[in-house]
Amino acid sequence: MRTADTDFSCPFLILQNITMMERNVSHMKVLLINGSPHEKGCTYTALHEMEKVFRENGVETELVSVGTNPIRGCIACGGCRKKGACVFSDLVNEIAPKFEACDGLVVGSPVYYASANATLVALLDRLFYSTQFEKTMKVGASVVCARRGGCSATFDQLNKFFTITNMPIASSQYWNSIHGRAPGDADRDEEGKQTMRTLARNMTFLMRSIALGKEKYGLPQLEPRWVPTSSDPQA
Ligand SMILES: Cc1cc2nc3c(=O)[nH]c(=O)nc-3n(C[C@H](O)[C@H](O)[C@H](O)COP(=O)(O)O)c2cc1C
Repeated sequence: MRTADTDFSCPFLILQNITMMERNVSHMKVLLINGSPHEKGCTYTALHEMEKVFRENGVETELVSVGTNPIRGCIACGGCRKKGACVFSDLVNEIAPKFEACDGLVVGSPVYYASANATLVALLDRLFYSTQFEKTMKVGASVVCARRGGCSATFDQLNKFFTITNMPIASSQYWNSIHGRAPGDADRDEEGKQTMRTLARNMTFLMRSIALGKEKYGLPQLEPRWVPTSSDPQA
């Protein structure tokens, strides 16, 4: 990997470095998680609109549907700290290596009572908590789908997984929402689909820019974890 102090004095090395950089930048991967129980419902319509743009731009995609899988919540046992994976072997541990390998993660949720759906939240709690690989500068984006209300609250909720994990967020021309109740409805939301296409383009640009930045400057220095907070008795 090229670092900031690479020797640029030789033209061959410059060419080699540029080729390496282009290879890293052109091989972007995005993982999309559909939290809806409906595999081909309205949330899927939004994610699929993004997928088409990613593919047009040469970005590899993989879409994982949570579907009707019974995903249990985190039981705060701490077993993942020893095991390096969640103690429950289900979709969470299947998604973990895909998350590690991707440059960007899109999380899509139907809105349930102005929140993300519970199955998806259970999955994300355990996925983010149990995995210890480096997530810094993987780009995150959340997409929400409602019949009518609660989109921006759900959008904020999902973005919090990224902003506690050193993951920059890709944005669009509007908050990333699409409207629909039953499968097919969201396909008629032209503004929603436009928002998804812009989001995918912006995310592609951001992932590529970050890949170039990583080549040139490396990842930002991380602070040590688990230092005392002001409420700890020893602080
Ligand atoms: C339990 C439940 C709660 C819901 N709560 C809301 C809500 O707060 N606001 C809203 O506009 N739609 C609500 N809906 C409708 C869904 O958001 C809508 O049908 C969904 O976007 C469909 O997405 P999907 O086809 O990907 O599952 C709710 C649906 C269910 C089943």
